[in-house]
Amino acid sequence: MDNVHFKLETDDDNIAWLTFDKADAGTNVLNTEVFDQLDQHLQSIAAEGPRGLVILSGKANGFIAGADISAFTEVKNVDQAMAFLRRGQEVFNRLEALPFPTVALIHGFCLGGGTELSLACRYRVTRDDPGTRMGLPEVKLGIHPGWGGSARLVPLIGGIKAMDLILSGRSIDGRTGKRMGLVDLVVPERHLRAAARKLVLEKPAPYQAGWLDRLSNNALLRPLLAPIFSTQVAKRAARKHYPSPYAMIDIWRKHANNKQRMLEAEADSLAQLITGATAKNLVRVFFLQEQLKSLGKDKSYQPRHVHVIGAGTMGGDIAAWCAFRGFHVTLQDQAPERIAPAMKRAYTLFKRKLKRANKITEAMDRLMPDHKGIGVERADIVIEAIFEDAEVKRSLYKDIEPRMKQEAILATNTSSIPLEELSSALERPERLVGLHFFNPVAMMQLVEVVRGETTSADVAAHAMTFTRQIDRLPLPVTSTPGFLVNRILMPYLMEAVLLEAEGIPPAVIDKAATDFGMPMGPVQLADTVGLDICLHVAEILAGHFNVAIPERLSKLVDAGNLGRKSGHGFYEYKNGKPVKQKASTGNWNMDEISNRLVYRLLNESVSCVREQVVDNSDLLDAGMIFGTGFAPFRGGPMHYIDAIGADVINRQLQALEKLRGERFTPDDGWKTLMQPSGGSTA
Ligand code: NAI
Repeated sequence: MDNVHFKLETDDDNIAWLTFDKADAGTNVLNTEVFDQLDQHLQSIAAEGPRGLVILSGKANGFIAGADISAFTEVKNVDQAMAFLRRGQEVFNRLEALPFPTVALIHGFCLGGGTELSLACRYRVTRDDPGTRMGLPEVKLGIHPGWGGSARLVPLIGGIKAMDLILSGRSIDGRTGKRMGLVDLVVPERHLRAAARKLVLEKPAPYQAGWLDRLSNNALLRPLLAPIFSTQVAKRAARKHYPSPYAMIDIWRKHANNKQRMLEAEADSLAQLITGATAKNLVRVFFLQEQLKSLGKDKSYQPRHVHVIGAGTMGGDIAAWCAFRGFHVTLQDQAPERIAPAMKRAYTLFKRKLKRANKITEAMDRLMPDHKGIGVERADIVIEAIFEDAEVKRSLYKDIEPRMKQEAILATNTSSIPLEELSSALERPERLVGLHFFNPVAMMQLVEVVRGETTSADVAAHAMTFTRQIDRLPLPVTSTPGFLVNRILMPYLMEAVLLEAEGIPPAVIDKAATDFGMPMGPVQLADTVGLDICLHVAEILAGHFNVAIPERLSKLVDAGNLGRKSGHGFYEYKNGKPVKQKASTGNWNMDEISNRLVYRLLNESVSCVREQVVDNSDLLDAGMIFGTGFAPFRGGPMHYIDAIGADVINRQLQALEKLRGERFTPDDGWKTLMQPSGGSTA
């Protein structure tokens, strides 16, 4: 076997420098072939007996991003998983056992298997910059470390710190790593090699955890700490949906003082998890995300100046986000005082995200209030986010179009108006595209890129590239009422309103949804979005689809109870948080509540696939996961239908139709899904 992924050099001091530069790949990842080649090198280096070994990366973007996730999809059963895990452990054990100093020289991403490899080295040196990130993010994929990550981190930095890193899956920079004991030296780029050389030549004693950190691994304390970890995890992830962090806590509780046992337990447990439904679905979500990312990769499109019109809830936050991502942004509204609150919010965002004063100032400098709209003439992209009124939008377009650059894109953030109704006002309708952001912009990753009948293919492609440039995920959708996400969400929200009107307490309805795996229940979601906005979107959808608007919703809006923003909605709000009355779920048929909510969402999903609002079921699943947080461990609505069986859900819809009326009438699209070859996921 040619050793194509590594390059070995030995310098005048007899230090071996092993550079990992995975062939035919932009990023270093670990798979069986890489382990085999690394193993070959380690064996020959061991035989040579150099003064020390430094492992570094030949990729500009980082050290090692982790395991090759596509390798997970090839693992078909527990035995295969065990073989894959044991191989990695064997190689890292060999690295750890080398009798001379070993150093991991880290820059950029060093995640999952990358951090595990570095832990098998005696020392870790990182580049001093915020872009260098170490961590064990496996729980985010429904698994936990399996190549010694926990077995080595726990004794190195103590149980509390190690479990915090593993259970949260968060990544840290070199300075934080140094404070925790994970990193030995943090140096600027130009000193990296010298720092590694120094460690090899001087052989300082490896880091030892302080007594307090060591104490947290004590056999008497672990049974007391483990339930505390579990309680913290339970706030974010239910055991039945996300078993991996709980499995990790168990391993630590049982074996923290025995590295060999911990390695074995890591592999045993991970082999089970990797072949389970949660991990498979979360890996699927990872690939869906990659698919969305790949939609906006046209490097030739390089916009610089973004002009945003409308500095309200959405426009203000879109402008701030674009400036945060490095664009030059002008922000227009009818008067300077309407722009001021948006500038204030932008400052808060920059402060939270950028932390350093000079970076915050630079971002503020990129964001210019511009109530006269001078920026229109210079902008490469104009984003319109004014009132949701077609006539007002058309009249604005008439005014700005003659002033826009020839090649500039006009993007509307409309949440419901078909583009054709707006493009009729334009001389060049081909340059109008929808960029439908979700609220809050800084948190919601998805942007629906709406292609109207007149939108040119280039403009749609450029809009997707721009979406990636501001680090959001583009989802191409057709210009039909509600596009994809709101259309699917609305029947689900309306069912929640109907349930509430039947006398079921909001907290019970929300619990049924969160038990299914939604991040927030529909009643709280409606309150958060704003009941006026829900009503408005529902009214538009009601003109086209099977969505009746419950009277209860209109009544609340008429009374000025708009949800969180007005302090009253379905819930009362104190300090922005809903006051949930304790409600016993025992009095209610939770399965029926859950089915009524979820099946309406699934029925509308099937309808959208049939009408090709998106190109395929995978894109629909991606849209609902990244646009609404639809239970990620279920892999998306269409994938869930596949898992349960279209015929099973179709029968239940029919039963609900008899009981509750025609809003549950199965969409025609179910017939296709129930055909023998009608599997929904492409
Ligand atoms: P908003 O009412 O908070 O802000 C609209 C702003 O536009 C106001 O500051 C207003 O002064 C300004 N404006 C109105 N006409 C103008 C004109 N001719 N020239 C300059 N500025 C003008 O509205 P919001 O919620 O930000 O919505 C804006 C757009 O975004 C709408 O199309 C809405 O459907 C869409 N949208 C809203 C979402 C939400 O959750 N609020 C989510 C996604 C899209």
